[in-house]
Formats: sequence, C-alpha cells, structure tokens
Amino acid sequence: MSDELLSPGRTLGVIGAGVMGTALLKGMLDHGLLSRRQAWGTAKTEGTCEEVVQKLGITTARDYDELIADSGILLIAVKPGQAAKVAEKLKASGLRKDTLLISVLAGVSTDRLESFLSTENAVIRAMPNTPSLVGHGVTVYCAGRWAKQEHLEATRKIFSSVGKALEVEEHYFNAITALSGSGPAYMYLVMESLADAGVRVGLPRDLAMELVAQTMLGSARMVQETGRHPAALRDDVTTPAGCTIGGLLMLEDGKIRSVLARAVEEATRIVEQLGKGKS
Ligand SMILES: NC(=O)c1ccc[n+]([C@@H]2O[C@H](COP(=O)([O-])OP(=O)(O)OC[C@H]3O[C@@H](n4cnc5c(N)ncnc54)[C@H](OP(=O)(O)O)[C@@H]3O)[C@@H](O)[C@H]2O)c1
Repeated sequence: MSDELLSPGRTLGVIGAGVMGTALLKGMLDHGLLSRRQAWGTAKTEGTCEEVVQKLGITTARDYDELIADSGILLIAVKPGQAAKVAEKLKASGLRKDTLLISVLAGVSTDRLESFLSTENAVIRAMPNTPSLVGHGVTVYCAGRWAKQEHLEATRKIFSSVGKALEVEEHYFNAITALSGSGPAYMYLVMESLADAGVRVGLPRDLAMELVAQTMLGSARMVQETGRHPAALRDDVTTPAGCTIGGLLMLEDGKIRSVLARAVEEATRIVEQLGKGKS
C-alpha cells in the first residue's frame, strides 16, 4: 500500500452498506480518498442496494463474490452476529492475502475476527460513533496480529474523513464503546432535558432546542480549542452569588457526576458481556 489509499486496479468494498457503512463511504468519496469507480457496497436486500446507488452513485451488489478478488480494502459493517458468516464468504470468494480488513463490529475482537478468517490478512478493529454521519464522529482503532503501519495509516485516513481518528490499545475498546460509542445518546438526553427546562421557564421549544444544541457545540469547541480544563472554563462563567453558581449547585445536589459515572460503568459492563456472547 502506497500513499494512495488503494494500489492501482484495487477497490474498496463495504460489506454491509447500512447506516455506518454508507456514512464511511460518503466521507471517503467527499474527501476524494477514492473515486466512485473504486468503491462498492453490498447489503442483504435489494432495497438497501438501490438506496446506496441513488445516494452515492457507486456499484452495489447483493452477491459480491466476484468483487472480492480485486479489493484492496474491505470494510466490514454488518451486525456483529454476521461476522463468522461474512468471513467464510470472503475466504470462499478468493480473498487476496494482501487485502486489508477493517471491522467496525461492536464487541468483536481482532483475535475473534482473525480466528473466523484463519488467514494472515491484516485486520484492524475500529469503533466509530454516529456523529460520523455528519462528519463529526470520533473513531478509535487498533491493529490485529498481522496489520502493519501502512494499514494503520490507511485506517486513519478513512476515519479522519468522518471526524477524528485515534489509535488506541484494544483493551480500551469496551470502555470507549461505553463512553464515545454510547456517548451521543447521553448527550441527546442532556439536550432534551435542558430544552424541556427552557420550556419550563417560558421559552418556545424550537428556540430552547436551538440554544441548547449550539451551547453544547460551542462548549465542546471551547474545551478542544483552548485546551483548558472544563473546570477552569466553568469557573470563568460563575460570578459570585450569580445565577450560574446557583444552577451548578442544583446539578451537584442531583449527583450529576456520580450519575454519569454510573451510566458509563453500566454500559461498559454490558459491552463486556456482549463481547463474551452473553446478552
Ligand atoms: N450505527 C452506529 O452508531 C455504530 C457505531 C459503531 C459501530 N457500529 C457497528 O456497525 C455495524 C453496522 O451497524 P449499522 O448501525 O450501520 O447497522 P445497519 O444499518 O443495519 O447496517 C448493516 C448492513 O449490513 C447489511 N447486511 C446484513 N447481513 C449482511 C450480509 N450477510 N452480507 C452483506 N451485508 C449484510 C444490511 O443489509 P440490509 O439493509 O439490506 O438489511 C445492512 O445494510 C455493527 O456491527 C455495529 O456494531 C455501528
């Protein structure tokens, strides 16, 4: 693999062009990482295949056996329970030794995917989150046994096209799934609650929601762009005996820190169980 994502004549296929698979294809196409001719996707139903053709203008096929041999990168984005079936199909369809496999399957370790494949293909495990759909996701990724630096670099390029991409050690994956994978849901709940609170004190709902969404976005950017600790930024907006310190006291009374910590702890526990095949 050179500086280009793909070697000449090779393609990138997305096995499972659903919500996440399509978001990644769109990001790569929008950022010029590949041309429409180099990309293809597959899904279980004709309806999804047609939707992808309309949305992205790439080749799709329910039966993709013939597309495997030319693929340089295969992105696996089916549901986790389909991993073994997909691995079998890839092997039976002439998967080349130098094809990189990138999996976004929640809870499926690189070890497990490699054992399903029983080949020496480079495998990368990644965990994106849904804001990837609007180009503001965060993805973590790690290398399997046979993956080299060039494969990690290709992965970084792919996930950077839909947000931030960070290489991490695989043992962090469960905690990260609970924090940034599930994280958008926590943020939506906070946003919904704050918008309700705005309505409670007399604001129209649309206005309250717009204020909350922009405040969340702006606060996140303040943390990222100033590099300052959230506690220091919070201190900046709390004047003595003011309204903000009063509001913060109520949040502390409601044990907001411990509630959030318990939420992430519980989600981590559940991900661990899912990874062991229990539900
Ligand atoms: N969505 C997220 O926020 C998120 C975040 C991180 C990781 N993930 C991971 O991403 C994966 C996909 O999630 P998703 O939300 O994108 O699900 P999804 O929208 O249901 O996409 C799965 C796709 O796989 C296709 N498919 C099913 N069986 C197949 C097979 N045997 N061969 C080829 N394609 C097949 C489905 O086709 P049809 O549409 O025709 O049924 C569907 O398009 C999951 O493993 C999940 O753990 C998702």
